[in-house]
Amino acid sequence: MKSKICLTGIKPTGTPHLGNYIGSIKPALSLAKKENHQSFYFIADYHALINNHDKSMLEEQIYEVAASWLALGLDSEKTTLYQQSDIPEILELNWILSCFAGKGLLNRAHAYKAATDKNKQSHKDCDSGVSMGLFCYPVLMAADILFISSDIVPVGADQVQHIEIARDIAQTFNHTYGETLSIPESFVQKEAALVPGLDGRKMSKSYNNHIPLFLPEKKLRKLIMKIPTDSTPPETPKDPEQSNVFKLYQTLANPNQLNEQREKYQNGISWGEAKQELYELINKDLAPARERYADLMNNKKIIREILREGAERVRPKAQNLLQEVKERIGLKLK
Ligand code: TRP
Repeated sequence: MKSKICLTGIKPTGTPHLGNYIGSIKPALSLAKKENHQSFYFIADYHALINNHDKSMLEEQIYEVAASWLALGLDSEKTTLYQQSDIPEILELNWILSCFAGKGLLNRAHAYKAATDKNKQSHKDCDSGVSMGLFCYPVLMAADILFISSDIVPVGADQVQHIEIARDIAQTFNHTYGETLSIPESFVQKEAALVPGLDGRKMSKSYNNHIPLFLPEKKLRKLIMKIPTDSTPPETPKDPEQSNVFKLYQTLANPNQLNEQREKYQNGISWGEAKQELYELINKDLAPARERYADLMNNKKIIREILREGAERVRPKAQNLLQEVKERIGLKLK
C-alpha cells in the first residue's frame, strides 16, 4: 500500500501552551507514528514574517517551536522536521500557484476578511495595515502543502478554509494541465476546542489564560493554584462537569484516574486539593519534556543540525515536483 504523506506547518509564535499540546501537537505526533504514514512537519517561518518583524524574537521563536516539538516526542528520524525558508522551491511554486488563485477567493480568506472588517468598523481604509503577505498567505500555504503531494494535513479548525483553498488551486491547475498535483485532505483535531483556559474560556495566548508548557515546577503550581473557584466548603459534593479544574484534569488523565477523580468530586474535595492533583498530573506528564526542552535550548546546534538534515531530505522532493510543474506549463524548452 502506498504510504500517506502527512504534512503540517507550525507557525513559530513562542513556546506552545497546554491547549496547543493537547489540541494539535499530541494528535499530530500520534498521526506521525501511524504505519503507512510519512510525516513532514515544518516551521512556517515565512508565515511568521507576516506579523513578526523583530529579528531576534523571530530567531528565538524558531528555536523554541522546534525544541518544543522535539521535546514532546517528535522523532526526527521518522518525521522530517524542516524550516520552510530552507526550501526555496516553495516560493517558486508559490508564484506559479498564485496565477491559478482567484483574487476573489483570497478576498474571502478569513485572516484578510477579519483585517478588513476591523478596518471598516473603525472607519479606516479597508486595506489599512494589510500587507501583500497577509493577503496572499493562503497561496503560500497551498505551495507548502502541494509541493510534497500531501494527502493529509492535520490542522486546527481555523485552518480548514486554507486547505479548501489549496484544493481549489490544485484542481484548477490539474484541470488545465492534467493530473499533476495531489488533492490534500484536512484532518481536524476536535480536542482543540475542548481545552479550557484558566478562566474557563478556550485556552489561548490572546486571552492570557494559558498554561505555558515548560514553566518551572514552582511557577506551574502557582498558576494552577490561582484558577478561580467558588467558595463551596471542602466536604460539599461538587459536580465535576461544572468545574474548570476538573475539565483541565480531564485533558491529560487516563480513564482510571478520571473515574477516581470524579468520585472524589462527588464525595467532596477541597478546591486546594483538587488543584494540587491537577498540578501533579500536569507536572508529571510534562517534566521529562521540560528537561529535554531545556537541554535542546542549551544546545541549539542540535536543533540547527536536525533542521538542516530535514531540509536536505525534503528539498529533492520539492525540486522534482517543481520540475514537473514547469514542464507541464511550458517553461522547460525542449
Ligand atoms: N497557517 C498555519 C497556522 O497558522 C500554519 C501553516 C503554514 C500550515 N503552512 C501550512 C499548516 C501548511 C498546514 C499546512 O497555523
